[in-house]
Amino acid sequence: MELLIAKNSGFCFGVEKAVKTALQTLDENKHNVFSLGPIIHNEQVINLLESKGLKIINDIKDIDRGKVIIRSHGIPLNVYSYAKNTGIELIDCTCPFVRNVQKKANEFFNNGYTVVIIGNPNHPEVIGINGWCNNQAVIVNSKDDINKVPIIDKLCIVSQTTMTLEKFQKLSNLVQRKGKIAKIFNTICNATSLRQESTKKIAKEVEAMIVIGGYHSSNTRKLAEISKKYCGNVYHIETINDLPINKLKNFKKIGITAGASTPDWIIKDVVNNLKDISSKE
Ligand code: F3S
Repeated sequence: MELLIAKNSGFCFGVEKAVKTALQTLDENKHNVFSLGPIIHNEQVINLLESKGLKIINDIKDIDRGKVIIRSHGIPLNVYSYAKNTGIELIDCTCPFVRNVQKKANEFFNNGYTVVIIGNPNHPEVIGINGWCNNQAVIVNSKDDINKVPIIDKLCIVSQTTMTLEKFQKLSNLVQRKGKIAKIFNTICNATSLRQESTKKIAKEVEAMIVIGGYHSSNTRKLAEISKKYCGNVYHIETINDLPINKLKNFKKIGITAGASTPDWIIKDVVNNLKDISSKE
């Protein structure tokens, strides 16, 4: 059995940093370590962090002391001042790519621009960016939202980092007509597209694909969808326990990919298990 592992599978740079920092903080502090929202959409990782003492809160105002890990999605600006005033220590794992968007939104907002964020209004990253322009950004997620953008002198358009390029181009083209001056910043991070591209490449070459990641993780489900376009036998699994071993034994060439929230140890478990089966053939 030959195994091909997609080049850009598993944690992206920002998520890896957040999980490592959380583990390190929990090793050094047994009590009063919190995260503002779940650090990652992966049940196994969350269980591990919680077993080490991490508590998830949804609002910084739920606590009045302790250390709070800020996940890669970032937070609104006013959370920093709340923490400073109350003495809560923030361990900031905002991804540098997200920080770049926050700074752009803040700078242009302060210079009198109306900020438009192309993204999902319910996503924590978008809520966070909006908080860097006094919650006055216009959020555009579909053609229908274009009407919400006022006709105005100065517009600044940014995107959620995980937006697809196609959608960003389509919507920003429509939005820019509303401003006399429109500054457009493509702030998409390429980690997502690289992962999808490498999955596509492998899926074309193999008889079966294993896609590892949370059943509720939207980026993992997207990888499964892409795989199905190019490969007839796709298995989306969360952990080694879900491996359909009897079916996989029939294939000579198997591809493996993993979502952005799938830790290395789960990927290694799956690979080693398949190697074991292969060596016993
Ligand atoms: Fe950062 Fe891109 Fe990951 S913005 S958190 S490296 S998807």
